[in-house]
Amino acid sequence: MLMTAVIAHRGASGVAPENTLRAIALAAEQGAVWVELDVMLTADELPIIFHDTAVIKDKTWQQLQSFQVPAPVGSPELSAPIATLQEAVNLIHQLSMGLNLEIKPTTAGLGELTLQRSLEVLQTCPAIHLVISSFDFNALQAAKALAPNIPRALLYKKLATNWRDAVREYAVRSVHLAEATLLQEDVAQIRALGLDVYIYTVNDLVINKRLVSWGVNGIFSDFPVLFTHLPETNSRRVSAYGEPI
Ligand code: G3P
Ligand code: MG
Repeated sequence: MLMTAVIAHRGASGVAPENTLRAIALAAEQGAVWVELDVMLTADELPIIFHDTAVIKDKTWQQLQSFQVPAPVGSPELSAPIATLQEAVNLIHQLSMGLNLEIKPTTAGLGELTLQRSLEVLQTCPAIHLVISSFDFNALQAAKALAPNIPRALLYKKLATNWRDAVREYAVRSVHLAEATLLQEDVAQIRALGLDVYIYTVNDLVINKRLVSWGVNGIFSDFPVLFTHLPETNSRRVSAYGEPI
């Protein structure tokens, strides 16, 4: 398997402020071994861990440094600052975790630029196990050209009819799909090609059980603690394919 059976989605984002260092640390405390984070660029092209493009639009890192990411409503956690990619990778290394880095921007050219700037940062950080995914397949193309050893994953909201072409074109190891539109036959067809299937976002034990019975390799969850103690989804360490950079 490329990653573990449970991946902390934006960290333990059901409790801690999403995509922050606190969310990563809490995910590790809860037994998660892999974390999924979204990366985008500030106006001065610094890769930061953040999900919503509209919030950071045209803002420099200096302008964003004082921004506080809120904790989920009802959570006892405090708000937390935005993390840079560098800070996140350093923490992930300290915690011996793996990272599924989602290249978030999809507007023309921005996915590739985000990928390039992210690789520049990753090359200065300690080595970690990585998987790069994106809805922007141009970003995957750039990753294939610039860092071919890092495993890549296609991201779909719903599996496209031409997904097999994309698997070949971008030479991916896994396909990441939304739970809401998933069909059992999608999982079977992807697994039959020898690829992994990971599903977002699953916060329900019954749904997870069904997905496991369909042959899904793992789920992205905002509440990894719900799953990490289960024998069938135990977040044991598994080796990623390829070499960490
Ligand atoms: O990478 C899986 C999932 O995070 C994709 O959707 O919007 O939560 O980033 P989103
Ligand atoms: Mg994401």
